[in-house]
Amino acid sequence: MHLSFALYLATAAWPLSGVVQASETCRHINIPVSVSVPRFELDTTINNNWDAATLTFNFTRRDAGSPTAPLPISGVTSTPVESKFTISAKLCGTGKSILILTHGILESSLYWNPGFPGGESYSLVSAAVAAGYSTLTYDRVGVASSSPANSLSEAQFGVETAILNQLVHYAKTTISASKVALVGHSYGSYLSAATASQVAVDAVVLTGFSGTLQFFAPFLAGSNLRVARIQDPLRWGHLDSGYLTSSDVYAEAYGFFAEPFFEHRVAEWNFNVDSQPFGVGGLPSLLATEIPYGNITAPVLVLQGQYDLPSCGGNCLGLLNSTSELFSNAKVVETVDDLPAG
Ligand SMILES: *[C@@H]1O[C@H](CO)[C@@H](O)[C@H](O)[C@H]1NC(C)=O
Ligand SMILES: *[C@@H]1O[C@H](CO)[C@@H](O)[C@H](O)[C@H]1NC(C)=O
Ligand SMILES: *[C@@H]1O[C@H](CO)[C@@H](O)[C@H](O)[C@H]1NC(C)=O
Repeated sequence: MHLSFALYLATAAWPLSGVVQASETCRHINIPVSVSVPRFELDTTINNNWDAATLTFNFTRRDAGSPTAPLPISGVTSTPVESKFTISAKLCGTGKSILILTHGILESSLYWNPGFPGGESYSLVSAAVAAGYSTLTYDRVGVASSSPANSLSEAQFGVETAILNQLVHYAKTTISASKVALVGHSYGSYLSAATASQVAVDAVVLTGFSGTLQFFAPFLAGSNLRVARIQDPLRWGHLDSGYLTSSDVYAEAYGFFAEPFFEHRVAEWNFNVDSQPFGVGGLPSLLATEIPYGNITAPVLVLQGQYDLPSCGGNCLGLLNSTSELFSNAKVVETVDDLPAG
C-alpha cells in the first residue's frame, strides 16, 4: 500500500498507540443531501440487453463523441433541478485529518475495506486509520445502500459532484475534520477532481485515473454490459433498466486486474460481493463535462497500477506526464505509473 500522500496531510492526526483495527472504530452514518444542479437531457433508452449491446457499440465506435456519432444528449435543463438523497457512509478512525473515498463504476464502497479472509492486508481503510487518519467511505448515489437514483436524470456526473461537495462540507462541520483529502478510484477520481476544482480541500489522490478517456473503449466493450435487473433479479430487481452490470467474473477481471499481480479469489470477491451496477447517465454526463483541473490548488497524487486498462489502455508507463500538466495550479503534483497491478 502506497501511502506517501500522508506526507501532504502532515500533522493533524490524533496520536495513536499501535495499530488500530479499522473494524473496531467504524460507525455507519446516513447523510441526507439535497442537490440542485442543471441536468443533461439524455436521449437513450435501455430496456433490455439488445439495447445494452447497442449502447456499448455507440460509446465505443471509432467516431464516438464526434458529430457523426454524437453523445446521446439532447440538451441541458434551463434551470437547476433539485433531488434529495440519503448517502450511506461509514466513518472509521478518530483522526482529525479525514480521507473521503469515492469508488468507481461497477464497484461499491466495500473494496476500500474488503471483508474476505485476509482482506485486512488489502484494506486502505485499515492502513489509513493505522496511520492516524479517519476515512469516510460511501456508496455513490444509486449504488448499494445509498438512495436509488434514476439512471438517466439523476445518476449524472454533476449530481454526484454536488453530493461530494456536500460530503466535504459535512466532514468539515459535522465531523469537525481539520483537513480533508479526497481519494478516488476511476470514476470516483473524476468526481474527486471535479469537487477539488469547486470547493477547498487539502489534498487529492487519484487512482485509476490518467485524465483522458481516450483509452476507455476496451474496458467498456470488455465489460459485456448487461441490464442488471435482468442479470440478477434477486440482487437488482429494484433498479431501473438503465442500471448496467458486467456479464461475469472474467469480464470484470479483464477490466480491473492484471496477471500475475492478483489473487483470483480477490477478483471473485470483487465480482460477487463488491461489484454494483451503474446508472447509464453517468457516462455521457462525464464525457460532456469539462473539469477545470487548472482550478485545483491542493497537492495532487496520481497513483497508477502500471497495467490499468480503463485509464491507460493497459500500459501507464510514460502516460502520466501529460496528466501532471493538467494540474497547472496545484501546489505539488506527484505521479506513480508503475505499481505492479491492473
Ligand atoms: C445508438 O445510436 C443509434 C444511432 O445514432 C441510435 O438510434 C440508438 O438509439 C442508440 N442506442 C442507444 C441504446 O442509445
Ligand atoms: C476556475 O473557476 C472559475 C469559476 O469558479 C472560472 O471562472 C475559471 O475560469 C476557472 N479556472 C480554470 C483554470 O479553469
Ligand atoms: C515522462 O517524464 C519522465 C521524467 O520526467 C521522462 O523520463 C520520460 O521520458 C517521459 N515520458 C514521456 C513519454 O514523455
